Amino acid sequence: MIFETHAHYDDERFDEDREETIARVRAGGVSPIINVGASIESTRTTLALADNHDFIYAAAGVHPSDIDCLNEETFAWLTAQTANPKVVAVGEIGLDYYWDKEPDVQANQRYWFKRQLDLAREVSLPVIIHSREAAEDTMRVMRENHGDEISGVIHCYSYSPEMALEFVKMGYYIGVGGVVTFKNAKKLVRTVEALPLERILLETDCPYMAPEPHRGTRNDSSNIPYVIAKIAEIKGVTPEDVERVTEDNACRLFSRISSR
Ligand code: NI
Repeated sequence: MIFETHAHYDDERFDEDREETIARVRAGGVSPIINVGASIESTRTTLALADNHDFIYAAAGVHPSDIDCLNEETFAWLTAQTANPKVVAVGEIGLDYYWDKEPDVQANQRYWFKRQLDLAREVSLPVIIHSREAAEDTMRVMRENHGDEISGVIHCYSYSPEMALEFVKMGYYIGVGGVVTFKNAKKLVRTVEALPLERILLETDCPYMAPEPHRGTRNDSSNIPYVIAKIAEIKGVTPEDVERVTEDNACRLFSRISSR
């Protein structure tokens, strides 16, 4: 089975045909699926999806671009959700300096990133990290906050191969999705070359990031075989190897799923 580590099936772009899409994806050999929260509201809708489908699990967390919804009260609510057995990670959390250039906003992102890292460590859950144009600060905040005592995945990885190996050294995995199939994805291809297959996780970030030949359309997990084929080609292994090893990797990281 294909282990999908990062989806947003609660997104409004699935409002028309959400249940049909999820059923089709599951019938096509994708299971389990981690649906990822990005705000208080989408953590709520993610939990509802996980409640209704035995093979869908939840990540609870607030994305750096959505931290306006965080205060002590909502953070306490988020903390309480991590006790739900279907919550398997804290995420997506991190830093996004691409969308937010203001120094105050970036400082606030670092504050809530740290708080959510602390939460993950307290409740012994892995983290799903979103990091864009903030490589150095992401690494620094992680190092300053016991990042090596947590584990997790750097999702939709976009930095250098050298940086990826630094994250791996800290005990993290690297999330690879549709971007690896893009013609201009040379850096990510070099990253996949440099990484051991044992440190790669499969993801879509759907409805975003559809791989070639469907680039630009609404993505879903049935497109993961295109990503598998590309990784297999880069690593010189079979698609079956990629599927099996990445599934093992995800089971190791998201241990609440494998212990059920
Ligand atoms: Ni995402």
